[in-house]
Amino acid sequence: MDMQEQLRKIQEEAAAQLATITDKAELDALKVKLMGKKGELTLIRRSMGQIPAEDRPKAGQMINEVVAILTEKMDTLAAKINMLEQEKKLASEAIDVTEPRKHTMIGMQHPISLVQDQMLSVFTSMGFDVVEGPEVEYDLYNFEMMNIPKNHPARDAQDTFYIEDNVVLRTHTSPVQARTMLNRKPPIRIVCPGRVYRADEVDATHSPVFHQMEGLVVGEDVTMADLKGTLDAFAQKLFGDDMTTRFRPSFFPFTEPSAEVDLTCVNCHGKGCRICKGTGWIEVLGAGMVNPKVLEMCGIDSKKYSGFAFGVGLERIAMLRYGITDMRALFEGDVRFLSQFRDD
Ligand code: DAH
Repeated sequence: MDMQEQLRKIQEEAAAQLATITDKAELDALKVKLMGKKGELTLIRRSMGQIPAEDRPKAGQMINEVVAILTEKMDTLAAKINMLEQEKKLASEAIDVTEPRKHTMIGMQHPISLVQDQMLSVFTSMGFDVVEGPEVEYDLYNFEMMNIPKNHPARDAQDTFYIEDNVVLRTHTSPVQARTMLNRKPPIRIVCPGRVYRADEVDATHSPVFHQMEGLVVGEDVTMADLKGTLDAFAQKLFGDDMTTRFRPSFFPFTEPSAEVDLTCVNCHGKGCRICKGTGWIEVLGAGMVNPKVLEMCGIDSKKYSGFAFGVGLERIAMLRYGITDMRALFEGDVRFLSQFRDD
């Protein structure tokens, strides 16, 4: 078979193969078969020495032509394969943004947070500022400035976690009163939400960590009537227009006079039921007129100014608001329980 015939055959076979090739590996294999070290065209070129010298230029030209034609065809196919592969890759990476998602859990607010937010919005709408204080507190603010000196029996009632001799985990939010009065001049109108700590055993109504909100108003001519009006408004906004409060005499070192404040029973609306033990009232918070001693210790002239204060447990309010009977449910973090509560 002469060289021309050989070249024609190689070209024909290569063209036929190119028509069927669909991937890069196959194309590379064909390239090697034709033009590799032992490729068909390479071997033909090498065999040029065996043909007469005068025929060589013609032969060389023929080989070059075939090489050029096949190279172009292979390049074209390589470009096409490349494009197809890119398209395939893009298609495989495509994201269908319309595809419905698998079931996702949407986070929600904890009932304590819900109640805290509701209360804050009631008090801020009445002109109160929101102030926070540290949970790790000096004995000085937690007790002394609240008129609870060392050896005062009221310290026993609040089983305290001590960090150091003079540093405690605050047992109530009342120390924020002292911190604020030392820093601000009357008129003062603040609420202070936050966590508080007591060495209590966990049961249906107790936890060593719980939440309170402190209220403090100091100004000229602030009276117990202002306290009653404020707490009535709070009760009505949170629990309904038919709510009212009842004050019973009590004792706190930091208020004089002091009161335990009852709320119309949220369950029976005052008729008397199991929850209020037939009285129509439930105890919800402590309050009173700021003890002049406390005002003076905080640098406020008790002849010119008077104030009222209250402290309310958020767990208690959340339990009443949402009909929760065991406080532990508020601390366990069971999503089946927590997902029932919505702001409304
Ligand atoms: N600090 C009190 C407690 O934790 C609650 C309290 C009662 C706060 C009366 C007050 C108040 O501001 O006037 O038991």
